[in-house]
This record gives sequence, structure tokens and C-alpha cells, in this order.
Amino acid sequence: MQNPENVQNVASVITSALSGMSGQTERTPRPRVGVVCGTGLGGLADALSAPVALPYGRIPGFPQSTVASHEGRFLFGRIGTVDVVLQQGRCHLYEGYAPEDVCMGVRVMAELGVEMLVITNAAGALNPRWDAGDLMLITDHVNFTGRSPLTGPNHDAWGPRFPDMSAPYDATLGRIAMDEAARLGVRLERGVYVGVPGPQMETPAETRMYRQLGADAVGMSTVLEVIAARHMGLRVLGISCLTNKNLPDCMKEAPLEEVIRVAGEAGEKLTRLVAAVVERV
Ligand code: HPA
Repeated sequence: MQNPENVQNVASVITSALSGMSGQTERTPRPRVGVVCGTGLGGLADALSAPVALPYGRIPGFPQSTVASHEGRFLFGRIGTVDVVLQQGRCHLYEGYAPEDVCMGVRVMAELGVEMLVITNAAGALNPRWDAGDLMLITDHVNFTGRSPLTGPNHDAWGPRFPDMSAPYDATLGRIAMDEAARLGVRLERGVYVGVPGPQMETPAETRMYRQLGADAVGMSTVLEVIAARHMGLRVLGISCLTNKNLPDCMKEAPLEEVIRVAGEAGEKLTRLVAAVVERV
């Protein structure tokens, strides 16, 4: 389990840095919504007004992602009238990070007062009806990482020892996302995400197994962050950008460049969708 003091220290470093910078804006941002931007989905930054950036390198004690495609900063700003914080760049288990490092960003955002988390990722489509470039509303997940950010002593001020996971993804936020996607003409499928440790991609036998377990998409992030967020009582909206088809009987390589390219293209739809949802909450 994370040492809560480390999270609180990072949150207070961020609060002081922001109040120091608030000369640049009319007031210190107080985010209500936190957004985790997955691979290639950093374009959400363009949807922010009055942005203030805080690179992770300026936050002592905050883990730095080693993934080249990840930006590595918090970005505070507004979408419509709603104060938001974007986490651009996240840590993964496959980088060698512990679950508490992977979840630090979410916990820090919760300490900063965020009540709702929008979590995005790039994922492979296991559902054969879907195409690369489609978006998927995450309705549920399978944590196949074998890890939990809640292992160890529980921090009762954050949440209960055995948090409920019967509805990890908020149904109301999901309905708003489906409505807004229809209004914007964006194809948004609904499905189950399986989170795996990576970094190797799946074998045909593994993709067949994940499909048989009930998953529609597979990726290397999100599930631990959602557990940490639900533990702290945040409402969660999860959206995957399906960057490649991952089908056991016609496996194709999905090189990182391709994943980033498709996520970048679909990121434009995702940006419009997330902005529309945030404006309605
Ligand atoms: N598998 C695992 N992670 C991924 C994939 C995939 O096919 N695509 C993007 N992230």
C-alpha cells in the first residue's frame, strides 16, 4: 500500500507550485475532474482553456514514466466552466514500477479534490466486430495483472479495506458518454477491458483465452488506477481507443508506432467526446 504521506506531500508541492504560478491565470485552479491521457491521447490538452503545466520533473517524489510516447506532466485548465487536471503520461507495471507508483497520479488528483476520473488508454480489440480506430466505453474490467494497489495496510481515510467493485465504472457517466457520442456522430462501442502486465503483446492462445474470459479489449494499464480511484470514492468513466485488432486466428503485429499513429488519429474523436462529457457533469 502507498504511504499516504508521499501522496499528500506531492499534492502540497503541486498546490504551492500552482499558487505560485497563479499570476499567469486569474486564479488558482481547483480541479473537479481528473483525466488520465493514454498513449497518443495527449491531444486532450488542446481542449483546455487557461492551461498551466507542471512537468513531473518539477515534482519531487513523483514517478517519471520511461515511455517515450508519454509526455510527463500535469496540465491544469478548464473545459467549458469545469476545472480539470490532465495527467499526461503514466507509469506502467511493465516499466518496473510498483502498483503504488502506477496509482500515484490518481491518488494525487483525488487529494487535490477531484471527484470524477476520466481514464483513457490504447488497447487491442479482442471483439472481432470492431475496427482499429474505434472507441470503447469500458463497462467493466478484468484485473489480470496479479497485482493490486491496495495490498498492505489499508489507509482508512482514503477508503475501506475491502472496497466494493460491483460497479467500478459509473453508469450515469457511461450513459452521458453514449448520448454525447451519438450527438457527435462518434462510434462508441461498450465492452470489458482486460488489464495485463505486458510489455510483450499477446500470443494467439492468450488472446483466445482473454476473449473466452469475457473481454472485448486488452491493454497494459487502467485497471490498477481504477481500483485506487474506486477505493477513494471517485466516479470513473473509462474509454479505450482501439488501436489494433487482436484476433487469435489472424494475428497481426501491432508495432508501437502503429499504436501511437492510430491513437493519435482516433484521439481527435476522443478529445471531442471527453470535452462534451465533462461539460455536462
Ligand atoms: N495488447 C496489449 N496492449 C495494447 C494492445 C494490444 O493489442 N494495443 C494497444 N495496447
